Amino acid sequence: MTNKYIDVYTLIKPDINKLSKICIETANLDCRLLLSKSLDRSQILYNHDTIEISEDQIRTFRSLIKERLNGKPVSRIINKRNFWKKKFEINEATLDPRPDSETLIEAILKHFKDKLQHLKILDLGSGSGCLGLSILDEYINSEVSFFDKSKKSLEIVKLNALNFGLLDRSKLIHLDWTVDEWDIKLLKIENQIKFDIIISNPPYIPSNEIKKLQDEVKKYDPLISLDGGKDGLDAYRYVLPKISRLVKNNGKIFIEIGKNQENSISSMARKFGLLTVEFKKDLSGVKRVVVFKTK
Ligand SMILES: C[S@@+](CC[C@H](N)C(=O)[O-])C[C@H]1O[C@@H](n2cnc3c(N)ncnc32)[C@H](O)[C@@H]1O
Repeated sequence: MTNKYIDVYTLIKPDINKLSKICIETANLDCRLLLSKSLDRSQILYNHDTIEISEDQIRTFRSLIKERLNGKPVSRIINKRNFWKKKFEINEATLDPRPDSETLIEAILKHFKDKLQHLKILDLGSGSGCLGLSILDEYINSEVSFFDKSKKSLEIVKLNALNFGLLDRSKLIHLDWTVDEWDIKLLKIENQIKFDIIISNPPYIPSNEIKKLQDEVKKYDPLISLDGGKDGLDAYRYVLPKISRLVKNNGKIFIEIGKNQENSISSMARKFGLLTVEFKKDLSGVKRVVVFKTK
């Protein structure tokens, strides 16, 4: 069977129209990402590019478009998501990284200006590793311990670390912050050496709000990465009491929070010896990250 040569826009135009009709605002980009996947190309295609494509590849492309028309997010179809400066692999056990979480990276860059220093960092609830690996990529002499209850997500961290050449500075720790003395177990693994930086983006959606989330979130992001219990604050109740024992004296803590959770979390943290240094807003103006230091 012969391949055909065609420009990208001519090929995808009918599919852009179909996706636009069901109000998918990113129809053009989605079509190009799905076409790249069908052609097994890692780089983005542009509308004016001329491509060589086989009948089989066109069939694959149309079946991916069908999945998109059925509401599956592009990131879940291609199992990839751009975050900060890298393209991350994701799977069904990981949260689809959110642009809002990049606020946490910006906060660290502001507080730790010397990118050559050696920092020992803990990523609590690491998911795909998008936060910890992005930081490792910025601070080239640092190391990150990735901590998650989900073994499958730690496998994805390993894959991403390998793809980015960061595996030798990454440690994978399979632990659960709801078990007793998880901090003692962690310090044992770390030979009693504490951390300069602790980061976390824990699950923080109140349980009864999950059903109100968009289908793209509630159907495809794992519940364990969303559900923060009755008021959304359960994970903070497990994590915050242990932080002072895990961080070095001059260390800092960067925690992502949900909309309007800043006061509850700041006052909870104060009880456990953590002082709020600042709140950092995301691009929509929501206080998204709290920075703490120890008293
Ligand atoms: C909101 S996701 C964040 C993932 C990633 N850091 C990101 O920003 O995309 C929360 C993560 O916490 C993990 N997690 C949830 N409960 C946990 C627990 N009890 N102990 C350890 N990790 C947990 C989930 O598996 C998930 O990977």
